[in-house]
Amino acid sequence: MPLMLQNIRKVLKKDGCVLFRDYATGDLAQERLTSKEQKISDNFYVRGDGTRAFYFSDEFLINLFNENGFDAEEHFLCFKQVENRSRELVMNRRWVQAVFRVGSGISGGKTESKVKFLGKDNDKPEIPKIILEDSANETEVDISEGMALEMFGISSPKEEILDVISKDYSFKIKVLSKEYQHTCKSTGLMLWESARLMASVLAANQTIVSGRSVLELGCGCAGICSMVAARFANLVVATDGDTKTLDLLNQNLALNLHVPTLASLITKKLEWGNRDDVESIKTLNDRGFDVIIGTDVTYIAEAIAPLFATAKELIRPSRGDEEDSTPALILCHVFRRVDEPSILSAASEFGFKLVDRWPNALTSTSTSQNIIQSWFSDGSLETCIPTTALNIQYFHKL
Ligand SMILES: C[S@@+](CC[C@H](N)C(=O)[O-])C[C@H]1O[C@@H](n2cnc3c(N)ncnc32)[C@H](O)[C@@H]1O
Repeated sequence: MPLMLQNIRKVLKKDGCVLFRDYATGDLAQERLTSKEQKISDNFYVRGDGTRAFYFSDEFLINLFNENGFDAEEHFLCFKQVENRSRELVMNRRWVQAVFRVGSGISGGKTESKVKFLGKDNDKPEIPKIILEDSANETEVDISEGMALEMFGISSPKEEILDVISKDYSFKIKVLSKEYQHTCKSTGLMLWESARLMASVLAANQTIVSGRSVLELGCGCAGICSMVAARFANLVVATDGDTKTLDLLNQNLALNLHVPTLASLITKKLEWGNRDDVESIKTLNDRGFDVIIGTDVTYIAEAIAPLFATAKELIRPSRGDEEDSTPALILCHVFRRVDEPSILSAASEFGFKLVDRWPNALTSTSTSQNIIQSWFSDGSLETCIPTTALNIQYFHKL
């Protein structure tokens, strides 16, 4: 932060000012992060998606600017109650708003912080308490709701359409708009890089899924791997544990697929380890799936074991005499907080053997195979994806 302020000083006109607005300490989102033990240091947290959140106290903010040669001209602590009547939820949001000018850097004690209550009770004397009717239902609450509008005056739509190109296919994908993504709990409402990369791999190597039954775990709202697979596979079941994600996924399928491809793709809720969900997937294909795919689904340590347990239940039993068609679990991620030893230990606990990986192939043993290398062999993928950024693990069921 100090470095950033020093850079701002260098480029600011003599009479220029810095307009500052950011989350304040005590904001509802901070309360939630605190209760989930995602704290890094004072008022600093890591969100579920790996991005960071900092909450400013008045004192910290003024000192920070003062120490870097700015005077505070005015500063406010803003309060806003966001009410969600359908969920009977009242959310108290707080942010700091200030104007700084280059100066002596000693204004800290001189400007008096004002407090603004925005909303119905503008001159409410006390800081409102957080009222959360149903905390058990907390996972369903999108705390970003209304916030971008209230805090920054942005009235952006909640969703935006991305043009996604995967090798020879292009898709229009509806995702949660950027203004909302960083405070949203669900990671399924956006498109992650590994799905984009894996979809290109599937598009360039149809034999991975051709004529086979495919299950995608944690497919997210975009479902592009499933959409590519559905062109060549006999059956594709695209699943996710999050119902909002599945709603958006269904919209994306309708936007991009037509019969007959659409007919070979089924979407279904599947929360890893949930017995009822697993049983209802079995009713769609009681022989088990030839190929199971998961992109960017191994970033939460606690979810890795249920993921493998679910894959174990739903993969087709191997007949032992198949070569190219041995049932496979293909996981892929771009590096971000992925704990490879936990993945490998869960794999072996649930009877999966790592037979190949990318980019660092296994050192040659009697059981290692050169499967993934062949997907990249003609070099055509290099031009459309940074293949070294993609980590692929290829498992066989023992
Ligand atoms: C980082 S996103 C990746 C989405 C998509 N595969 C992609 O790469 O764009 C992780 C996905 O896994 C889903 N997920 C996380 N935990 C899950 C669980 N326990 N059961 C089922 N789905 C889960 C999330 O809803 C989300 O859609």
